[in-house]
Amino acid sequence: MLILGVESSCDETGLALYDTQQGLLAHALYSQVAMHEEYGGVVPELASRDHIRRAIPLLEQVLAESKVELSTIDAIAYTQGPGLAGALLVGASVACGLGLALDKPVLGVHHLEGHLLSPLLTSNPPAFPFVSLLVSGGHTQLMRVDGVGQYTLLGETVDDAAGEAFDKSAKLLGLGYPGGPAISRLAEFGDPGVYKLPRPMLHSKDLNFSFSGLKTAVLTVVKQQITNICEQDKANVARAFVDAIVDVLTAKCVTALKQTGLKRLVIAGGVGANSQLRAALNAAAQKRHFRVFYPELQFCTDNGAMIAFAGAMRLQLNPDAAKRDYAFNVRPRWPLNELSGLASS
Ligand code: KG4
Ligand code: ZN
Repeated sequence: MLILGVESSCDETGLALYDTQQGLLAHALYSQVAMHEEYGGVVPELASRDHIRRAIPLLEQVLAESKVELSTIDAIAYTQGPGLAGALLVGASVACGLGLALDKPVLGVHHLEGHLLSPLLTSNPPAFPFVSLLVSGGHTQLMRVDGVGQYTLLGETVDDAAGEAFDKSAKLLGLGYPGGPAISRLAEFGDPGVYKLPRPMLHSKDLNFSFSGLKTAVLTVVKQQITNICEQDKANVARAFVDAIVDVLTAKCVTALKQTGLKRLVIAGGVGANSQLRAALNAAAQKRHFRVFYPELQFCTDNGAMIAFAGAMRLQLNPDAAKRDYAFNVRPRWPLNELSGLASS
């Protein structure tokens, strides 16, 4: 089964071809980061317009790279939500327009399910069941994953997502957008312990997170230094921020593994690309005898491959999931536990 995947939920346009026999045949991505950088964040209208410009050239690129004839695909999977409404509409209309023209069925995929399953896009995927930490720009969730479509929410953020905290704190430090990679790089030059920032909900008995207080603590430090915060001080604050957020994420993962009795931890989403988080999780895994799996770096942040893959997994479970119904609607807000067959604790 050959699936075309289309991702356009935020500021990356991603197209990919996934074959259930041969694996990922090709994927192409265009990131709008440079365009949004000067505004300090994603401008939804600009994002939508740019998706329109990029989608078809990226499709042509994956077809050329894979040497696949468009007429040979079996179905088209597209990100139906959650995300920016206008941006989602571009991917949905491209997918449904192609489906109608080619007489191929289409399938709306949940963006977070794409992230959640992206660590399986390797030659040596983790076996089910596992605990998944989904850390993206919009979400921070711990999930028990028993199989495709079998997700139990264990805990989530009560306010900001981890990626959002990275981005907002980076902005407070005058770093560019997206802030995650920038603050992470700067933290490498910071001295640990110069600033001590809070670790919100570290000792709460549940598996929930809260990151807005951490961002406020960064703001307080920055305000105190407003007239002359030097580069080294910025690096020290970045270091304190990264140390705090990594401590909380790592501790909650360890607790989730203890509570579920599982020995496999899978990381997904943009913050999963963070090197300090990976180092801390790897150290915890060695000490506590569990295994930790990450998506390839290129599949941590948004991409079309994870959507093609999630679509393929869904179709393997239920071949009727894709339909020749091209009257699309998008779901900008779409809780993962609303997917059929999902339970939340
Ligand atoms: O998964 P993703 O591409 O988009 C969403 O679905 O939200 O995640 C984007 C988020 C942004 O907040 C970005 O700052 C963060 O992931 N991110 C990072 C790193 N790379 C991306 N955060 C920390 N360290 C990184 N290396
Ligand atoms: Zn994402």
